Amino acid sequence: MILGIGTDLANIDRIQGTLDRFGDRFRNRVFTETEQRKAERRADTAGTYAKRWAAKEACSKALGTGLRMGIAWKDMAVSNLRSGQPVMQVTGWAEERLNEMTPEGYETIIHVTLTDDHPWAQAFVVIEARPVSEPAAESAPLP
Ligand SMILES: CC(C)(COP(=O)(O)OP(=O)(O)OC[C@H]1O[C@@H](n2cnc3c(N)ncnc32)[C@H](O)[C@@H]1OP(=O)(O)O)[C@@H](O)C(=O)NCCC(=O)NCCS
Repeated sequence: MILGIGTDLANIDRIQGTLDRFGDRFRNRVFTETEQRKAERRADTAGTYAKRWAAKEACSKALGTGLRMGIAWKDMAVSNLRSGQPVMQVTGWAEERLNEMTPEGYETIIHVTLTDDHPWAQAFVVIEARPVSEPAAESAPLP
């Protein structure tokens, strides 16, 4: 079942402006070391940050909290599988919120997808709950 969805559109030029103005204060408050490493080694640094910013906003919507003053942005973090597919990890308050949303006997999976086309970066997040004991679809017995 779907527990939550969220989307966000971030302006890459606005993120570039914030990077120019606040530098490491902005980087270190919002982005994990993994996110910073990825962004800083890319030609499109601001675009890479903007996708991750959008992912955090979208995740907060899927969690049903939205972004409140003083929230720990780094508790919603994007990394990439070897294939390039993005993965969202939640820790701290975001993990607590996810646990509160998760019905007894279910486990949650956070799906995230990112795209950008200058000046826009976009993210969608879907939070899915699956019964812990549910067999894989391929091996499920026929009705
Ligand atoms: C996935 C792919 C279609 C992205 O298309 P694109 O038009 O270049 O880029 P978009 O702006 O639409 O999307 C980029 C985002 O797609 C996501 N993405 C990349 N690979 C992905 C994959 N295998 N599955 C799902 N999402 C993927 C990433 O989140 C990426 O942003 P990020 O690197 O900042 O996290 C394209 O990169 C592709 O075909 N990749 C597969 C082959 C490949 O090059 N693999 C490299 C690693 S082995």
